[in-house]
Amino acid sequence: MVDHQQLYPLFEERFGSLAGAEQYFAPGRVNLIGEHIDYNGGYVLPVAISLGISALFLPDDSRQLVIYAADFEEGVSIDLEKLIAPEGKSRWPLYVTGTLRVLQQQHIPLRGGKVLIKSDLPLGSGLSSSAAMECLFAFMMAPEYFESNPRTLALLAQKAEREEVGMNCGIMDQYAVAFGKKDMAMLLDCANVESRYIPADFGDYTLVIINSNQPRTLADSKYNERRIECDTALSIIQRHDPAQFLVDAHEISIAQLEDDVLYARAKHVVTEQKRVLAALDALEQGNMSYFGELLWASHQSLDEDYEVAGTGLNTIVFYARKFSGCIGARMTGAGFGGCAIALVEKDRVKRFCDYVGHKYEVDMGVKADFYLAEISDGVRKIV
Ligand code: GLA
Repeated sequence: MVDHQQLYPLFEERFGSLAGAEQYFAPGRVNLIGEHIDYNGGYVLPVAISLGISALFLPDDSRQLVIYAADFEEGVSIDLEKLIAPEGKSRWPLYVTGTLRVLQQQHIPLRGGKVLIKSDLPLGSGLSSSAAMECLFAFMMAPEYFESNPRTLALLAQKAEREEVGMNCGIMDQYAVAFGKKDMAMLLDCANVESRYIPADFGDYTLVIINSNQPRTLADSKYNERRIECDTALSIIQRHDPAQFLVDAHEISIAQLEDDVLYARAKHVVTEQKRVLAALDALEQGNMSYFGELLWASHQSLDEDYEVAGTGLNTIVFYARKFSGCIGARMTGAGFGGCAIALVEKDRVKRFCDYVGHKYEVDMGVKADFYLAEISDGVRKIV
């Protein structure tokens, strides 16, 4: 988390006095296992992380939200009556206006004022920076309301992403940002949007996040394509199988799919769902080596059957597997570039980062970034 105090001088420089400013934080997330499962109605196992977006918000009586994004060195002014995303170099204002529009449709009053945001979450890298932006701005508009209604927050933020940004996402990211809890993973049932917390205790291992720094330009279009493939597979299966969601389909029904691509997609979904439930048991029993095995298997399935990993993430997982202190690694999030996670023996983490970092740079000609994030609480006001 970017310390809010660090933001004070910049806020004063841009906007004048800080007096009365409120402080907020929205985390990113990593999904431990259960990838491309949320929109197929299954269980996923995400955690919120200590990397995220920090904000200072000084509300006033105006109908303008003036925002300065320190990471982009870019400021915008949004008219709360019109809610039009200003033309700019980057896409971030679209997440803000999209979210505000959804709140307005729900008759949630919008607050004008001055906002400074700064992130230590790598943006657009598959750690849910967009969900963090959506949840952050929604939460700042009505903190007391969303504090006691995190489920509504998650659903409205998801609606903004789908209807205003155009990424037909599931509920996992916004849910994890809204419900994150320190040192806890969430077993989220995406069929009914309910969860329970599981201690995320990795014993002798540290969770390492590795950013492939691969451009994710195709991510949205390929993601939407995978969703259509899953829906198509499900509608064929439903001709003779009562499955409501693809995760519920019987293996025999999947084997009967004649199209090779649809078969592979569906195979990933049902096998990944089994891995989530096995991983849950392994985590609850402290069986980290089995948990790690499931991470490798998940990655392989995402690469071979779901075809969303790509060279960068495969290279990271390939070298992670060669490193003797790493018990499991996989891509996390939508894929097509973005981040991987690895579980690494605590005292070998530095060697792991040096080794994988060096090999990756030699093979890919790009540097990977490594993060040791803690598992954190969800979006919140800092008092
Ligand atoms: C993105 C989406 C999520 C989920 C993951 C893949 O992060 O926003 O809803 O589908 O991809 O598991």
